[in-house]
Amino acid sequence: MEIILAKEYGFCFGVERAVEMVEKALSEGETVRTFGPLIHNQQEIKRLESKGVKAINELNEVQEGETVVIRAHGVTPQIEAELKSKASRVIDATCPFVTRVQRLAARAAAQDRHVVVVGNPEHPEMIGVKGYAPNHAFIVRDASEVPSLPKLKKPLVVSQTTIKAQTFFETAEAIKTKTDDEVEVINTICSATRDRQDAARELAEKVEIVYIIGGKHSSNSQKLLAVCKEKCEKTFLIETEEEINPEDLRGVRRVGVTAGASTPNWLIEKVIQRLKEIGEQLEKQ
Ligand code: F3S
Repeated sequence: MEIILAKEYGFCFGVERAVEMVEKALSEGETVRTFGPLIHNQQEIKRLESKGVKAINELNEVQEGETVVIRAHGVTPQIEAELKSKASRVIDATCPFVTRVQRLAARAAAQDRHVVVVGNPEHPEMIGVKGYAPNHAFIVRDASEVPSLPKLKKPLVVSQTTIKAQTFFETAEAIKTKTDDEVEVINTICSATRDRQDAARELAEKVEIVYIIGGKHSSNSQKLLAVCKEKCEKTFLIETEEEINPEDLRGVRRVGVTAGASTPNWLIEKVIQRLKEIGEQLEKQ
């Protein structure tokens, strides 16, 4: 039984970097708190908790002597300043792709221009970005929300890092009806999500069964599931190797494996190890 991995899978650059920053602080003996859950993967959260890492959700939970980590989504400059005034050390693990959006928004606001960000207004990344352009930023989910915007002054249009390109460009086009000035459009979508979906589709085309490792409630893992199911009916979303049913693998020659953007490598390795064991057992029968 051959096990084939997708060309792109698991941790994206920003999440991997954030986890590494936490690990480094731990190795230096610091008491580490994350401002919000660092990652949407229960198993990885448990592993970090066993090393003493706790997530806090409110500023007043920060204690003296603690190191607080800003997660990959970033926060508003106001929250960052408050964290710095309360914690012993603040580690900024904001993904550099998100930092870019924050800087672009801040620059436009400093020039007294409007900023329109295409994305989900409730997403922490969007709340953070808006804080960089106070009184100048609007967040719209898609083109259907553009009519509710006021008349815009020299607008800059940027995007949440994880939205669909089509939504972004359609919205940017609609925004042109809201101003007499030139519209500056900068695509700030990160390719990690799309790359994982493209690689999953390619994988599902050449195998008989696919295992996607990821949280059942993780939206990017659910998307990988939908993408793979289109090409390979026998696709399973599993959180750990314990969910693999050996009977599903009987007679299978090629197994595909991929993982959501919050799934750590150690969990992926466990699944591969289990698949190898099952393959060997089935061969002996
Ligand atoms: Fe950064 Fe893209 Fe991941 S923005 S956190 S590398 S999905």
